Amino acid sequence: MAAMTIAKLQKKKQQGEKIASLTAYDASFAKLMAEQGVDCILVGDSLGNVVQGRSSTVPVTITDMVYHTACVRRGAPDAFVMSDMPFMSYGTLDDTLKNATQLMQAGANMVKLEGGDWLIDSVKALTERGIPVCAHLGLLPQSVNVLGGYRVQGKEEAQALHLIEQAQQLEAAGAQLLVLECIPNSLGKRVTQALSIPTIGIGAGPDTDGQILVMHDMLGMNSDYLPKFAKNFLAGSDGIDAAFRRFTDEVKSGAFPALKHSYEG
Ligand code: KIV
Ligand code: NA
Repeated sequence: MAAMTIAKLQKKKQQGEKIASLTAYDASFAKLMAEQGVDCILVGDSLGNVVQGRSSTVPVTITDMVYHTACVRRGAPDAFVMSDMPFMSYGTLDDTLKNATQLMQAGANMVKLEGGDWLIDSVKALTERGIPVCAHLGLLPQSVNVLGGYRVQGKEEAQALHLIEQAQQLEAAGAQLLVLECIPNSLGKRVTQALSIPTIGIGAGPDTDGQILVMHDMLGMNSDYLPKFAKNFLAGSDGIDAAFRRFTDEVKSGAFPALKHSYEG
């Protein structure tokens, strides 16, 4: 299989083909996902929750991310692998460059950072030095202690405009992808139309250029909680590989997400 690249993801936006993304943290699941046509694999710091059993992503370290990035890369040699920079691993420019280098050398194609204006210089410095960046706006789980909880973001028009402006600044600084988490449908659409780089949404409505879910959510592995934006694709599927395939197919066809998976407004 020919390797997936940022250029191919960019082309999907231009051609109106949706980008199907999932998180993975190990070789076996990453391999299955790649075989079932998932376009982009995120080694998310959500591993703090689903792998390590923590209540937030704040305790996740760069050492953890490097380890899981290397595992995923071994399982899916041709996949487009994006890795999260964890909490406070990009607090200063020096740390940003050093830690992003570690993720790239562990096998990532791109690093992802949570935040807006304050990241402009980091995004510029990374991309100028050959490290592609995915920005992440909307709900920022690493900032849960500032936000005071996990809530939908950008509901007020002033916040929405601010988010669009930040997205444009990040694109101008060199970001090549943008994850949008937990924002109203209409804002997901407005940001997507305002940018030439692809947007990938989680709880951001059907109009982003792609969709991403945490693997454990889409396999229905947490019996007491399924986020509103997630769907159990294993239910009614023949196995885990079939669930990954169905996710890919439903993202491509637009069947997922349905309105009930998104936040109105
Ligand atoms: O860590 C993660 O899984 C993520 C996705 C929710 C986008 O950042
Ligand atoms: Na993350």
